[in-house]
This record gives sequence, structure tokens and C-alpha cells, in this order.
Amino acid sequence: MRTQVGIVGAGPAGLLLSHLLHIEGIESVVIENRSRAAVEATLRAGVLEQGTVDLLKATGVGERMQREGAVHHGIELRFAGRGHRIDLSELTGGKAITLYAQHEVLKDLIAARIAAGGTILFEARDASLGDLDQDTVSIRFDHDGGSRELACDFVAGCDGFHGVCRPSIPESARTEYTRAYPFGWFGILTQAPPSSPELIYTHHPRGFALVSTRSPEIQRLYFQCDPHDDVDNWPAERIWEEFRVRLATLDGWAPREGPVIQKNIVAMRSFVCEPMQCGRLFLAGDAAHIVPPTGAKGLNLAVADVWLLSRALTAFYREGRNDLLEHYSETALTRVWRAEHFSWWMTSMLHQFPGNDPFQVRLQLAELGYVTTSRPKAITLAENYVGLPLD
Ligand code: FAD
Ligand code: PHB
Repeated sequence: MRTQVGIVGAGPAGLLLSHLLHIEGIESVVIENRSRAAVEATLRAGVLEQGTVDLLKATGVGERMQREGAVHHGIELRFAGRGHRIDLSELTGGKAITLYAQHEVLKDLIAARIAAGGTILFEARDASLGDLDQDTVSIRFDHDGGSRELACDFVAGCDGFHGVCRPSIPESARTEYTRAYPFGWFGILTQAPPSSPELIYTHHPRGFALVSTRSPEIQRLYFQCDPHDDVDNWPAERIWEEFRVRLATLDGWAPREGPVIQKNIVAMRSFVCEPMQCGRLFLAGDAAHIVPPTGAKGLNLAVADVWLLSRALTAFYREGRNDLLEHYSETALTRVWRAEHFSWWMTSMLHQFPGNDPFQVRLQLAELGYVTTSRPKAITLAENYVGLPLD
């Protein structure tokens, strides 16, 4: 088998890259080690930046998102028992976020690739990359009971944090920057209508809590937890008691409760691999960087990476230009580090850290007070949250 761009991983990065390349007449093959059903059922992010939404719409995969997603023009920061609205749209010249689950984006992208005759090889196991410095790079893997080899001009490593592409770059040719957080997020899906028309990010002495949503019938909520805790320690009543305490306001606000239909614990880390390229391999999305979910940036960063990579590959195939490919990592990392900082800042401002002394908590409250009263500071939050322009 031969293709122009071999893509490892059918997450948001890999599938969107394949879609964007197809629009430019560039061939690709996507290799994914899980089944289609598993990919389409994995619960992850929910917030799409303005630029992500605009790109999905402009490239013909935004129709269901526009119908079923919810556009939000603000978020609430809640601390010391009071809510403070950040008017995202007013602060950013009309931009907004859209709540639409990541796995729904994936379903739309898979359907579009298949309708266009694209190749996605699900359940392709044991992928490994050949020499990254040759003119043709091969991806070897097992599929349908046999060993396969895919010869490509370029490989896009879109296989997430635990994939095989990043480790294919020699250790001496990459530097990794990491920060692990001493807490995780306990996430639930509950069958209950939204408790609030907009997301609520809450600072509380018992720890952070977040109210998000998925549909008029399903809510997504999170609370800060011990990353080593077990979901089985948390029957529904204990979960709701924790949310009631953390989300309580002085004027008696309470979440709308319903049956807990899913619960999981997400670890929190910041991570960046530099550079994001080596020879003919280009990393995109979680394969190259991780952010804690507090800024809702993970999925959106993956989108920004592949937008850039698709422009660079298009310049190569259309105009024989190498310069955009050569500068891919440098260009992508500018946005990556901005998002790393924003996600770390939101996380630091809103969570309880072990050993937080009263002084540290007062500093967090001072920062929250400033963000919710100073227009320039609120603009800083808003423009990062709705997402900086893709170009
Ligand atoms: P992924 O979505 O990880 O996709 C990589 C794909 O590659 C997967 O389908 C995987 O099966 C496949 N793959 C891996 N290894 C191989 C291999 N060797 N061969 C072939 N295929 C392979 N962000 C938020 O903003 N909010 C959230 O609430 C949130 N929750 C998250 C929860 C979890 C558990 C995780 C891991 C991430 C979460 N994120 C969240 C981050 C966000 O979902 C990711 O940033 C986003 O999925 C990145 O997309 P990606 O395509 O780069 O990687
Ligand atoms: C979600 O809805 O899953 C979500 C929303 C906002 C975040 C993270 C996750 O910051």
C-alpha cells in the first residue's frame, strides 16, 4: 500500500487532518488501533472554540453540530458563594463557544471520510514506523489477520499521549516538559436537564467543581478528586452531596439532580514535546502535548495543529514549498505554549492544592476577584477561552 500522508490515530487530530487533506486533493490513510464503535463511544471533551466551529462549518462537517450543539455566550466563575458572569461574546467582539461532545465530532468526521471514499483502517494493531529520514517512510502494522506495510511521503503522528509516534523520535532529538497535578477530575453524566444555561467553574474550600452540559436531557459535571480514588467509592448520593456542598451559593442555588449514568476519573497533567517534528514525521494533538482540562483546550489545540499541518502539506504538494513544513513545529508551539499557560493558570486559580495555606487561598480569591471586576483581565480570560484565531 502507498499513500501521500499516513496518519496514525483516528481521534480528532487524525480524522480532521485526513478530511482537510482530502479537500485539497491530498491522499491519506488513517490507521487506528481501536474499533470504530470504541472510537465513537469514548467520552472526552465538550467545548469547541469559535475557530474550531468555524472550521468544521467551512469544511462541510458542521451541520449536525449546528443543529444539536448549544452556543454559549458566557461562563460563570463562582467563588466565596457568589457567581460572576464572564460575558465571552461582549468581551471578544462577538465570539462564543459551542457545547458539542468530542465523540459526536468524531462520528461526523468518520461519516464524512467514508462518504468521500476515504480509508480508515480500524483495529490496526502493533503499528511501528520505519526510518523517518528516508524519502519514503513506512508504517508497519497488523490488520485483518495479516502484516501490512504502508509507504508514505509523510507520517502524521496523531495517536495521542500513549501512542507510538512520539517515542519513534530518538530521545536525543526531543525535549519533554511535564507537570503532573496532585489531583484529578471525577466526571459524571447525569440524566437531568441543565442546572444552568452556561458553564459554572467553581472555587471551593473542598475543591474545584464544574457544571457543564451535553444536551437538554443530559448534564456533564466534574469535581476535583484524588487521582488515585476509585469511582466505586462514590455511590450517587455521595456524589450529589459533594456537588451540593461545592456549588452552593449564598442565595441557595442547587444543581438539578438525576440518575448518574456514567462516572470516570481523569488524571491531570501538562506536557509538551519539542520539537513536534522529526524528518518526515509530524506530531499533532495529544501525541505532542497535554493540557489539564480546566481551560477546555485539548481538543481545540489538536484542531489548530492539524489546520497548520494541512496548510503546510498543501503548500508542499501544490507549490513544491518546504518552508511551512520546516517551520511547522516552531509555529505550532507558539499556540501550544499559550494554551499551556492558560490551562495552567485556570487550574492554579480554581483548584485546592495539597498544603494550600490560607495565604495561597487568599491569593486565588484575589485573582478571581480581579478577573471578575477588571475588564482587561476579563478580556484575557475570554479571548483565550473562546480561542485565539487559527491563522
Ligand atoms: P486522541 O483523542 O487521544 O486520539 C488518538 C487516537 O489514536 C485514539 O483513537 C487512539 O486509539 C489512537 N491510537 C493510539 N495509539 C495508537 C497506535 N499505536 N496505533 C494506532 N492508533 C493509535 N479535553 C477537554 O477539553 N475536556 C475534557 O473533559 C477532556 N477529557 C479528557 C479525558 C481523557 C481520559 C483524556 C485522555 C483526554 C481528555 N481531554 C479533554 C483532552 C481531549 O479529549 C484531547 O486533547 C483530544 O482527544 C486530543 O485529540 P487527539 O486526536 O490528539 O488524540
Ligand atoms: C466538558 O463539558 O466536558 C468540559 C467543559 C469544560 C471544560 C472541560 C470539560 O473545561
